[in-house]
Amino acid sequence: MLVLAHISDLHLDGSPRATERAERVRDRLWRLPGRVDALLVTGDVADHGAEAEYEEAAAILGLRDGSAPFPVLTCPGNHDSRAPYRKALLDRPAADGPVNDLRVFDGGAVLMCDSSIPGSDEGELDEETYDWIEASLDGLDEFDGLDGGRPALLAFHHPPVALHHPLPDSYRLRDPERLAALLDRRPGIAGLITGHAHTPAATVFAGRPLAVGPGVTWTLRLPWEGEQLADRDAPVGLAYHVLDDAGRLTSHFRTVM
Ligand SMILES: [Fe+2]
Ligand SMILES: [Fe+2]
Repeated sequence: MLVLAHISDLHLDGSPRATERAERVRDRLWRLPGRVDALLVTGDVADHGAEAEYEEAAAILGLRDGSAPFPVLTCPGNHDSRAPYRKALLDRPAADGPVNDLRVFDGGAVLMCDSSIPGSDEGELDEETYDWIEASLDGLDEFDGLDGGRPALLAFHHPPVALHHPLPDSYRLRDPERLAALLDRRPGIAGLITGHAHTPAATVFAGRPLAVGPGVTWTLRLPWEGEQLADRDAPVGLAYHVLDDAGRLTSHFRTVM
């Protein structure tokens, strides 16, 4: 069994408000009395993609001093910038290509995929990322043996389906048919985890569960909840995802006052 905590859309911008909200959810997670296997952060870590914003993120998420009690896995969003993201969050040399990261746990594998398109708010898994996903899954199959079948989760920023709000729906993942075709070929992918929409949501895509994490910075008002887009008074959101040994994904959603 794999237990994952999940936060998204911190939008750190140097403001005390953004810092306080990120620290609030971090404190909740760091003080959990029971163990989770990892924390997933599904993009829009920084608001402007500035180096200082990633330095702050690395400090808050305990990436520098090793204070995180479990692995912290991230992927970029449309507000992120790959070069400073790589340098501060992953301690990798600056490069322009997608930032993809595989982590294998006893209970399953997590593929953190880069769906960002530099200069655009839309999302895309590019050629290099699809190749990396296929190679990663091939590697798992080999490792686990032919009858093994360790389940895997794909995490990335942009939901591949409409969530019935005009804002996230107009900047979603391009070419969802290609992702659906991948899922058809890969029954070991147990589910998809995304961010970007700033609203906790659960749906299906190509027959797999799709869980959308709530936003740390603000919550999207749905069309029937009022006209103003961002509810900045809503509490900070947090999700937990449980992947059981049968490959079934269960998602729980929390708020942190
Ligand atoms: Fe966002
Ligand atoms: Fe986003």
